[in-house]
Amino acid sequence: MKYPQLIHSGINNKIVALSETEVAKLFTEDTRSDIGSQAEKMKFANSVNGLVTKFVRLDFDDSLQAEMLVMEFIDSLDYRAYEVGQCELWWEVFEEGMKQLHNAGFVHRDITYENILLTNEGLRLIDVSISALRSQVGDQLFDKYTESELLEMAEFREHFLNR
Ligand SMILES: Nc1ncnc2c1ncn2[C@@H]1O[C@H](COP(=O)(O)OP(=O)(O)OP(=O)(O)O)[C@@H](O)[C@H]1O
Ligand SMILES: [Mg+2]
Repeated sequence: MKYPQLIHSGINNKIVALSETEVAKLFTEDTRSDIGSQAEKMKFANSVNGLVTKFVRLDFDDSLQAEMLVMEFIDSLDYRAYEVGQCELWWEVFEEGMKQLHNAGFVHRDITYENILLTNEGLRLIDVSISALRSQVGDQLFDKYTESELLEMAEFREHFLNR
């Protein structure tokens, strides 16, 4: 296999696979989001538990002329191949992990299907683009974001368990 390999080309960022274990989010000149802030948010979540994809390093790729946020590659499974009972167990672990993150002062803010990946070890989260830390946004916004997150989680749960 030849790397880097494009695996996603979105509105804001491209994601490339660097190897079997690492992917990078590319930040180019016209990217408005801040790579440093995303790295900090990811590292904070990593310090709480294993739900969010692991930060590896910041890098610059000369040939791509892009700043890179390098992280662990999450190999995802199709949840529809699994029984509802198994999914319920995965959901409970996920919910517990989310509560830990909220209590520690991290709110993800983008709980959608594309950002929750199922693996052999259960549900994992990617994409901290718009995540927020209590220490940065203050109590009022943080509590408001957490409230919306609980609704987004309930919606995801419905789809995940009643397909
Ligand atoms: N760590 C990862 N492991 C495996 N796949 C990933 C990883 N990070 C991102 N991807 C893939 O790339 C896609 C986009 O990544 P991400 O959600 O972080 O970017 P995004 O901000 O939503 O991009 P855009 O908004 O520009 O579409 C994901 O839906 C997933 O398919
Ligand atoms: Mg996304």
